[in-house]
Amino acid sequence: MEAAVTHLIDRVFGPGRFAKSSERLREGNMLLSDCSFVAFRDGQPVGCCRMWPVTIGGAPVAFLGPLAVDPDERSAGLGQALVESAVEAARAAGWRAVLLVGDGPYFGRVGFTNAHAAGVVMPGPVDQRRVLLLPLRQGGDEGLSGLVSIDPRA
Ligand SMILES: CC(C)(COP(=O)(O)OP(=O)(O)OC[C@H]1O[C@@H](n2cnc3c(N)ncnc32)[C@H](O)[C@@H]1OP(=O)(O)O)[C@@H](O)C(=O)NCCC(=O)NCCS
Repeated sequence: MEAAVTHLIDRVFGPGRFAKSSERLREGNMLLSDCSFVAFRDGQPVGCCRMWPVTIGGAPVAFLGPLAVDPDERSAGLGQALVESAVEAARAAGWRAVLLVGDGPYFGRVGFTNAHAAGVVMPGPVDQRRVLLLPLRQGGDEGLSGLVSIDPRA
């Protein structure tokens, strides 16, 4: 199963994905399997949304990505459904907020807003305007600022 999901992610993002700063926060990290989702058609993965533990200035948050939907399955709401499932699972698991690097117009529909203005800094060469956050409870984003890094406890 893991190999089939990796194959989907490779197909959607291409080899360039390993150069992404987000990848640095996933390598050697431990997948939050209770907050990660895979969609299947005919036994094959056609969509996935994964979550990872990271910290912002030392405070633990869930980091979303990659989100990938097979080109043949797009514009049917699968991407949004996967994000919503992952967000709800993170809320249920007690995470205070979800962080990601992505397109504001797409993730804004689910409620994500820019986090850089509040002082959240992604390491590496990242367009900080694409750093987005969704608080999962009242005040979930309060005091969240500083550098994003892998949770040393992960
Ligand atoms: C982004 C992605 C996951 C969306 O999957 P999906 O199942 O088509 O998503 P939904 O059905 O929920 O939404 C589709 C709508 O979002 C729009 N959309 C897709 N990517 C977008 C983006 N980057 N910015 C703004 N809108 C976008 C589509 O145009 C589509 O609009 P339509 O319904 O009017 O046709 C999919 O296109 C994909 O895997 N892309 C490549 C990988 C990627 O960019 N992942 C996200 C980066 S973190």
